[in-house]
Amino acid sequence: MAIVWRSLALSLLAAFFAVLHRAASAAPAALSPDTASFLRCLAVDLPPQVLHTNASPSYTSVLESSIKNLLFVAPATPTPVAIVAAAGASHVQAAVRCGARHGVRVRPRSGGHDYEGLSYRALSAARPFAVVDLAALRAVRVDAGRRTAWVGSGATLGELYYAIANRSARLGFPGGVGPTVGVGGHLSGGGFGLLLRKHGLAADHVVDAVIVDAEGRLLDRVAMGEDLFWAIRGGGGGSFGVVLRWKLRLVRVPATVAVFTVHRARNQSATALLARWQRVAPALPRDVFLRAVLQNQDAQFESLYLGPCAGLVAAMAARFPELGVTPRDCVEMAWIESVLYFAFYGAGKPREQLLDRGAGPERYFKAKSDYVSAPVPSHAWESAWRWLRRDGAGLLILDPYGGRMAGVSPSATPFPHRRELFNLQYYGFWFENGTGVAEKHVGWVRGVHREMEPYVSRNPRGAYVNYRDLDLGVNGDDDDGGEGGYEKARAWGEAYFKANFERLAAVKAKVDPHDFFRNEQSTPPLPSSRKGLL
Ligand code: FDA
Repeated sequence: MAIVWRSLALSLLAAFFAVLHRAASAAPAALSPDTASFLRCLAVDLPPQVLHTNASPSYTSVLESSIKNLLFVAPATPTPVAIVAAAGASHVQAAVRCGARHGVRVRPRSGGHDYEGLSYRALSAARPFAVVDLAALRAVRVDAGRRTAWVGSGATLGELYYAIANRSARLGFPGGVGPTVGVGGHLSGGGFGLLLRKHGLAADHVVDAVIVDAEGRLLDRVAMGEDLFWAIRGGGGGSFGVVLRWKLRLVRVPATVAVFTVHRARNQSATALLARWQRVAPALPRDVFLRAVLQNQDAQFESLYLGPCAGLVAAMAARFPELGVTPRDCVEMAWIESVLYFAFYGAGKPREQLLDRGAGPERYFKAKSDYVSAPVPSHAWESAWRWLRRDGAGLLILDPYGGRMAGVSPSATPFPHRRELFNLQYYGFWFENGTGVAEKHVGWVRGVHREMEPYVSRNPRGAYVNYRDLDLGVNGDDDDGGEGGYEKARAWGEAYFKANFERLAAVKAKVDPHDFFRNEQSTPPLPSSRKGLL
């Protein structure tokens, strides 16, 4: 067997050098000596079927397999010199060790949903990088008796929810709504969905993890220590290592949950309803989640209740009678069916739909986010409606916090936005290629975000790291490290993490002082002049 591997590795090496020769004569700047040594190292240490260099016929299909944003499929996008489609921990370790030895950074990719594509593309072609794709590491092992599960980073949220529901109808997990989102990136940035008011963030339920660190070591919670374990539960993906798998504490769900979706047009007093919603929704009993999605001149109010319709309709009648929810609006179902209901907007879909990892990218999108600490005045909602009427308008998504979220200390995990009323996402999307159309939609997102500035959190103006936004700033080239790098990174680091950012940077200095895991918005090491925090 060893001989077969060795001869396969050697033939790959020979093929690679032929390609290298061709590529080097065509574009000498594209392959630095570091890159060549790195690729040689990978070819020796990895079985050929997991290694896809940008000369392999498989490269494009592997690269695009989980890209969700058409913006980053453009030919000019700087892409990895190699993709390691890891089938085991040793492949990830080999990629990290080869990268560290030859100066080629590695970006982990789990589900590929990063809003700015940072798991598979770079802003600049100046520095080659590689991707470790974890899609094959997606086993989910549920222990219903202990109410825990081990889940591979490459699993999607849909695969996780499906596996849990298959083992027990009375267990669930408080993660995000999108079923194709990768567990790895989602937990790395916090992760919230319709159970957040009852159970908090997805990352709050991580009890152990296995990570490959910057030296290529495989560490569990005990071996990595509590500082790094703190950082990986919400401190943003791509900064601290490659998390291979996570041990989760599952939550109890009732046999029956209730849902409704009602629409209220702007001219049906939607502004007054929103003004009321922002006071009511974050203060409802924890079993009720009621969010609002604004599009065109319509407000869609969506609710999940952990109990039967009678309880949900009664809660609405008591707390929010203006919304006019009736028993006819409400539908009862199992929790897993509610996951399908919110993911695909409709009841009666087969559960297996949760296992669909999705086809290639089908839309272009750009998003930004805010946190709202005090109710937005009605005139600002009126102005938002005017923005929603413009050419190029997208959606505003309002996710209420409160409940369990407010009961967690802002420093318990890196995610600091525990006491906010709601998260506000500005989401622009389009389907046609072209600079003009992109400018129109991106311009809309930036414009409405600018418009809302007086009414949202400030000093710093908060943002959610899982709704990554490079408008907040980016790391410079490597020579930008040290004090300057950290000071610069505070622009987005404190928006995402507030006071926790300094602790994240201190952890980074401890576990990855040479900044191996680096992307345009990764956390840089805290400069030695400021050390002493840990
Ligand atoms: P991806 O693989 O692109 O990784 C994202 C970042 O994490 C990158 O920097 C990457 O390098 C890093 N990373 C990935 N895997 C890692 C690992 N194993 N170890 C260390 N770093 C790793 N959010 C939310 O809170 N609630 C929601 O309901 C939704 N819904 C939603 C729907 C859709 C359609 C999209 C596109 C996105 C969302 N999100 C969301 C946002 C989502 O949580 C966020 O984009 C996640 O980071 C995506 O994780 P992936 O693994 O898919 O992304």
